[in-house]
Amino acid sequence: MTDRTLLLAGNWKMNHDHLEAISTVQKLAWALEDAKLDDSQCEVVVVPPFTDIRSVQTLVQGDKLWLRYGAQDVSRHEPGAHTGEIAATFLARLGCTYVVVGHSERRADNHETNDVVAAKVKAALGHDLLPILCVGESLAQREEGTHVDFTLTQLEESLDGLGAEDLQGLVVAYEPVWAIGTGKTATAEDAAEMATAIRARLRERYGDALADSTRILYGGSVKTDNVADILVSDDVDGALVGGASLSGPDFAALCKAAV
Ligand code: G3P
Repeated sequence: MTDRTLLLAGNWKMNHDHLEAISTVQKLAWALEDAKLDDSQCEVVVVPPFTDIRSVQTLVQGDKLWLRYGAQDVSRHEPGAHTGEIAATFLARLGCTYVVVGHSERRADNHETNDVVAAKVKAALGHDLLPILCVGESLAQREEGTHVDFTLTQLEESLDGLGAEDLQGLVVAYEPVWAIGTGKTATAEDAAEMATAIRARLRERYGDALADSTRILYGGSVKTDNVADILVSDDVDGALVGGASLSGPDFAALCKAAV
């Protein structure tokens, strides 16, 4: 895939309060400017905790920063009696562009099934949020060689009930669970194998247009010193970065190394 604009998203997970968020985003913006990076080369997205989104919005929109931002989860419900949930429409009104859905940590911590994830994908798309759908296998599945089948099943079931016309803007993040936060990064070949398999399955189920327009990211111990290798495959369109995105300058350096 030629002349692509990489999507580089930083998932802060449960880190940085709203004050730290302001400082981190400002330092990221300055470091991106120093690195002479702009949105023609990469789309840089910050995905902070819910409590930080308003602060990030005020900074990004007030200072006209070319950063995008998003949320780490979304309710599958519309507004109403759903204690503790965050509606897609609220995130959209806060200017979120993306929302991470089905992250393996949420699937584990909150027992999120593929059905629940599919409902969240639908809720996001229904409110003009771009879902970053996370899929990926466990170490046991990789070791027994069922990683591709498992991940593709997770993909299909997490998109169940949605047609190609519903899925415009979809982003899929392949995040092998064994590589998340472990320092064990998938090889470029591992990432390419899965990204190619994901794109082929999207092509089978939804046709060429959606398969070619869907951005496929890799996530799992992405760092400045390995991001270029991970992105060698034309089927890998960017990265979903955890730990290495928590420092503004470090994330900017990773983005520079990626382009
Ligand atoms: O969502 C991205 C995250 O799961 C990857 O985390 O720390 O391995 O880059 P990390």
